[in-house]
Amino acid sequence: MKDEIKEIEDLEIALLLEGVYRRYGYDFRDYSLAHIRRRLRHRLELSGLVDFGAMLHRVLSERDFFEQLLRDLSINVTEMFRDPAAYRRVRREVIPLLRTYPFVKIWHAGCATGEEVYSMAILLEEEGLLPRCRIYATDFNQVALKKAREGIYPLEFARQYSANYQKSGGRASLSDYYRTDNEHMLLKGRLREQVVFADHNLVTDSVFSEVQLVVCRNVVIYFNRDLQERIFQTFHDSLCPGGLLWLGSKESLKLLRIGEKFGDLYPDEKIFKKRLQ
Ligand SMILES: C[S@@+](CC[C@H](N)C(=O)[O-])C[C@H]1O[C@@H](n2cnc3c(N)ncnc32)[C@H](O)[C@@H]1O
Repeated sequence: MKDEIKEIEDLEIALLLEGVYRRYGYDFRDYSLAHIRRRLRHRLELSGLVDFGAMLHRVLSERDFFEQLLRDLSINVTEMFRDPAAYRRVRREVIPLLRTYPFVKIWHAGCATGEEVYSMAILLEEEGLLPRCRIYATDFNQVALKKAREGIYPLEFARQYSANYQKSGGRASLSDYYRTDNEHMLLKGRLREQVVFADHNLVTDSVFSEVQLVVCRNVVIYFNRDLQERIFQTFHDSLCPGGLLWLGSKESLKLLRIGEKFGDLYPDEKIFKKRLQ
C-alpha cells in the first residue's frame, strides 16, 4: 500500500513538472527526484492543498503560484569565498594558467545572488588580471540575479566572509572591497565592471561564448545523472581546448561518460581540465 501511494505521488510529480514545462518553459523534469519531492512537499504543506494533483491545477492557472514554485525549486544558498581552500588553489595554480591567455573569459553558471562572482572578481583584481577578463554570471532565477547585480549583502555575514577570504589567501582586507550602511555591505562598483549578468537556463538555453574557465558550483547536485551528462557536455562545448571546469565540493565527473573528456587537474578542489582530444 505504501509503495502504491508513493508510486501515485511520483506520477503526480512527473505530471506537475510536465505541466510546468509545457505552460511556462521551465524544465525540471530531470532534476533529482529526491530534491523535487522535498521542495514540493514543503510547498504542499504551506499551501494547504490536498495533493499534487490539486497543485498541478493551481500552478497551471495561477502565474503567481508558479513564480512561488520556481523560488521553491531554486536553492540560492551561497557565500563569499565558499570553500576557501579551493579558492587558494585557484589563486595559486589556476591564475597562472589563465595569465597565459591574452584575454580571459569566465562563465559563472548558477551564480545565485553573486557572492561567488564578487569573490572571483576580488581574486582576479589582486592578481592583476581583472582588467583582462570578462565574467559572464548567469542564473535562471531573476530575483537572485537582481541581487547579484546590486552586490548588497547583509552586514551580519561580513565576519564569516572575511574569515573565508583570509583563509583563501586574500592579500588585503575584505573591507577594502565594500562600504557599509547600517545593515549592509555594498560591494564596490569597480568589481562588476567586467561582469555581464544574464538570465540563462542551463537546461533549455545553449552555449553563448568560448570561455577559458567555467565555474559551476553546487548546481548540478540538484540534477539527475542524465541531466548532469548534458550540462557537462554544454560546458565542454563552451570551453576552449585545455579550458577548466570548477565544480562544488560534493560534485564530480566520476561515474559519468563525459568524465572521459576531462582530466583531473586538482581533484580535491574539483577542478577539471578539458582534454585536448
Ligand atoms: C546553491 S546555488 C549555488 C550558488 C553558487 N554557485 C555557490 O556555489 O555558492 C544554486 C544555483 O543554481 C541555480 N540553478 C538551478 N537550476 C538552474 C538552471 N537550470 N539554470 C540556471 N541556474 C540554475 C539556482 O537558481 C541557484 O541560484
